[in-house]
Amino acid sequence: MLDPAEVRAACADVVLMTERTVVRWPSAADRELLLAHERDPRIMAEIRDPLPEEALVERVDRSLNAWDAEEGSWAIFVVEHRGPGAARTGIGVVAMHVVSYSAQRIELGWRLHPDWHGQGLATEAMQRMIDFIFETLKARKLVAFCTVENTASWRLMERLGMQREGRMRDHSQLGGQWRDDFTYSVLQPEWRQARAAATRVASDG
Ligand SMILES: CC(C)(COP(=O)(O)OP(=O)(O)OC[C@H]1O[C@@H](n2cnc3c(N)ncnc32)[C@H](O)[C@@H]1OP(=O)(O)O)[C@@H](O)C(=O)NCCC(=O)NCCS
Repeated sequence: MLDPAEVRAACADVVLMTERTVVRWPSAADRELLLAHERDPRIMAEIRDPLPEEALVERVDRSLNAWDAEEGSWAIFVVEHRGPGAARTGIGVVAMHVVSYSAQRIELGWRLHPDWHGQGLATEAMQRMIDFIFETLKARKLVAFCTVENTASWRLMERLGMQREGRMRDHSQLGGQWRDDFTYSVLQPEWRQARAAATRVASDG
């Protein structure tokens, strides 16, 4: 796994393209999109309780400033939809942090605006992001969590080939209620194997 300075350098200005999406490092021009998504209860309901406006703005501004890539420090990437020609629309966010450099473990979180759900865009963008995490950042293990009620999120994890490791009881609190979370993971060798198999099927077909 790269060290914090190398991870920071690899992420700065990154642009990860797929057929229909782009995942890229955010700029000041993304501030309104990030604020709008943070304020939208349809997007945030299973992630965290609404923040007071001041805290929400502070959080977004922090994510647009320098990222130190230290353990536990979240980076935000913007997900865009590629339209005709050079048109691009901001549709969501991928959040990433290094859980542990010694364990070579990274955690991912994701959210798309509801107008863009149900089209496979999250799957497509996250596949590219996970390639980046394993191939460029050289992580060994990728983990993700969601509430057990967040079916769309754990179905996405399963589409990505992640395995459910377990159910963590009373692991988060939303609206004053304790909630259980599922924890999922994928390891670098199994990701590589699955990607190679998918490429073989595509070239045979
Ligand atoms: C989690 C989240 C990103 C998943 O979005 P999604 O639209 O379900 O995921 P995808 O973009 O990969 O689309 C997959 C869906 O599109 C369908 N689909 C259509 N075309 C597809 C394609 N080409 N490839 C894959 N799936 C396709 C799939 O069948 C699937 O629908 P299904 O679940 O009804 O079977 C979204 O629900 C979200 O942003 N939620 C709010 C924020 C949140 O809770 N984030 C997670 C916090 S842990």
